[in-house]
Parts: sequence; C-alpha cells; structure tokens
Amino acid sequence: ERSSQKVSMAVVRRLPKYYRYLEDLLHKEIYRISSKELSKIMGLTASQIRQDLNCFGGFGQQGYGYNVEELHKEIGKILGLTKRYKTVIVGAGNIGQAIANYSHFEQKGFELKGIFDINPKLIGLKIRDVEIYDVDYLEDFVKENNIEIGVICVPREKAQETAEKLVAGGVRGIWNFAPHDIKIPENIVLENVHLSESLYTLTYLLNEKLQEGTDNLENIELD
Ligand code: NAI
Repeated sequence: ERSSQKVSMAVVRRLPKYYRYLEDLLHKEIYRISSKELSKIMGLTASQIRQDLNCFGGFGQQGYGYNVEELHKEIGKILGLTKRYKTVIVGAGNIGQAIANYSHFEQKGFELKGIFDINPKLIGLKIRDVEIYDVDYLEDFVKENNIEIGVICVPREKAQETAEKLVAGGVRGIWNFAPHDIKIPENIVLENVHLSESLYTLTYLLNEKLQEGTDNLENIELD
C-alpha cells in the first residue's frame, strides 16, 4: 500500500534521522520505546512521530510502543538500505579520501569499487584496498562495473563535467560535495551536501545565544 502514495519530502528527510536514533537504541540494547520517549530523544513531538510512521502503515501498538528492532528494519528497507550499491568516488583529495576511509558506508551496503583522480601522484595508490584510477577511465569503468552511485569530490569548476561522465557511464545517483549546482537529466537522483550550510547555521545560533546573554540560562528547558 505504501508504494501507491508518494511520501512527502519532509518525511523522507526525517527517515534517516529515525534510522540513526533507532540504531543507537539497538546498540544500547533498548528494544521497545514509546512514541513519547522517542520524541524526547529526537526533539520531535510524539504526534509528529506517529504521523510520520503512519505514512508507512504505522509500526506502533497501543500500549506497547514501538518495537525498535522491527522499526529499524522497516525504515532501513524503506530507505533502500537492504540493497547493495556499487559506488565510485571522483576526486581523491581531502574530502574524497575522508569518505573513502570511512568504512561504515561499506558496512551499510555502499561498495566502493574505485576512486578516480587527475593527479598522477595519486593514481595507482590505494585507500583501504580500493585503487585510485586515472579519471580518463571513469566513464568506461562505470559502464563495465555497473556503478550505481557516483560521489563528486572534485573542485567546483570540475563538478559539472564529472557529473556528465558519471551519467554517460550510467550511474543512477550522484552524491555531490562540490559547491556547484550540477545540471543532470531528471531521471538521475542528485543529493548535494553542504557542510558550510550546517556550519553557518551553527554560527547563527551561536551569535543568537550570545545576544541573549548568559543570565537566562536557567530558562532552558531540559524536561
Ligand atoms: P582537494 O583539492 O583536496 O581535492 C580535489 C581532488 O580532485 C584533487 O585530488 C584533484 O587532483 C582532483 N581533481 C581535480 N580535477 C579533477 C578532475 N577533473 N577529475 C578528477 N579528479 C580531479 O579538495 P577538497 O578539499 O577535497 O574539496 C573537494 C571539493 O569538495 C571541492 O569542490 C570543495 O569546494 C568541496 N568541499 C565541499 C564541502 C562540503 O561541505 N560539501 C566542504 C569542503 C569542501
């Protein structure tokens, strides 16, 4: 029944957050939680949570709450995390290397098949057993290995041409770290990551707090 109706983007954006908190609960060996408790730790209202999870047929039971394991599994399924995704990273600089080194993505099903760069000093090196190849081979490699996701970590002025190579090779999704508005065909999914936006939100909030002063700290509700 879920596939017949489109889930709103706002809910989709919250799903990874549910997934993360539920995973955390599982690590703490908490197997059952009420929507009230879940709302407290996640900073959402209980009704918001019930509403969100109702979009997927609702997993809670009156008087019992949510079965954490089941909910985690279901949301993982909804997020597509039960599949495996063949992935490449383009740009083996600071960000590209950091992502390649982060083995958690591998455990979640993102199989890093190759890393690509233009710098001859990097080509041939390996990061966690994954080779850095010459970017000249990118399109063919994507084709031959049925790569589904491309991660863009090149300088911003190279982002568009990199995206075009990935699309020509046949990727279905692009995870873009370059601060550039990439244009790609509509059937390709694009997700941009802007660390700077998060950082500037921090500075905004920091300065707002400074203006408020420290005298009303006791007004912060911790309930
Ligand atoms: P970096 O200079 O360390 O790495 C870029 C790498 O791309 C280099 O190894 C370079 O040889 C390679 N490269 C250049 N042209 C290429 C091409 N045509 N094909 C393949 N490889 C190529 O840069 P860094 O710090 O890793 O940043 C990478 C990108 O991420 C930049 O666009 C930067 O603006 C962006 N960035 C994004 C952030 C975010 O929040 N999303 C935060 C910081 C940086």
